[in-house]
Amino acid sequence: MKEEIINLKNQALAQITEIDNLEDLKDLQITYLGRNGRLSKLIKKIKEVKGGDKKEIGIQINQTKKTLLELIASQKQKIKSKSNTEFDETVPGILPPVGNLHLVTKAIEEIAKTFKAIGFSQARYNEVEWDYFGFESLNFTKDHPARDDWETFFVDVPEDKKLGPMILTPHTSSGQVREMKRVGTPPIRMVNIAKCYRRQADVSHVPMFHQFEGLVVDKNISIVNLKGTLDYFAQNFFGESRKTRLRPYHFPFTEPSFEVDISCDVCEGSGCKLCKGGWLELGGAGMVHPNVLRNGGIDPKIYSGFAFGWGVERTYMMKEGLKIPDIRLLYSSNLQILKQF
Ligand code: DAH
Repeated sequence: MKEEIINLKNQALAQITEIDNLEDLKDLQITYLGRNGRLSKLIKKIKEVKGGDKKEIGIQINQTKKTLLELIASQKQKIKSKSNTEFDETVPGILPPVGNLHLVTKAIEEIAKTFKAIGFSQARYNEVEWDYFGFESLNFTKDHPARDDWETFFVDVPEDKKLGPMILTPHTSSGQVREMKRVGTPPIRMVNIAKCYRRQADVSHVPMFHQFEGLVVDKNISIVNLKGTLDYFAQNFFGESRKTRLRPYHFPFTEPSFEVDISCDVCEGSGCKLCKGGWLELGGAGMVHPNVLRNGGIDPKIYSGFAFGWGVERTYMMKEGLKIPDIRLLYSSNLQILKQF
């Protein structure tokens, strides 16, 4: 009888591990352990066993029952966990996170689009530039005190005899003479949107930022054309009700030079906490200086032009009414901040 029990146990174990669904497992449990199952039948047979073997066989049967129950339970677990990993096409998918363009990229695209609509071509002039294009050709003589206003990074390479030291361009105006030389004979209508670098870092300045520079050169270009272009930009970029005004200023490369203000949309020009007496400062502009035209190979007796140059970050933040407490956040890798724009 002992052998019979061992055989039954081995048979059952082999079958249990083969089963892959709960119904068959239940049937097997009944076949072996049910009231009239194979093991129960053996239990009934114990009576017929003679002598001291009875107790031993009783223990053997109990252990077999226990082993089978344990194995059935663990097989049940296996079957269940397997069915959990099966593909269920009705479960909604997990969407991968979707990124968005950086605020500055969006701003550049929008600014370029606004000017393209009135015939400006988009350029992107050098970030690493010669002093000649960044300053000298723009009518800053070698020791011109105004150079100090552009807190410039110098690149540690030997100076060029004609073009001077190499710099990281501190403004997009350095594209003006390059564009004049590239085009040769006017008309010129370009907007140079590029990175600029200055030695400054505080809540409202970063050492790397962006500017956009408009340049128009043709016959009979006057301040009226400049003002019209600025108003067009203000109305199309900021909103129809916006106006611009020119305030006299000084830049070596324009004569006359101006600072451009835009009417405040919060108080609509009457003056509020956000603005200075109803106006917000946008950036610089002016009529291209005859010396600059000459440096670009253009005769100032025949042609005239206007130019303007503003910060991309600042202009876009003004448009959206964004009050970012520290401009350096724009260039941090803090996704919690960047995701908002
Ligand atoms: N380049 C000047 C700056 O960075 C801005 C500027 C002023 C550009 C007058 C111009 C201009 O084209 O006409 O401060």
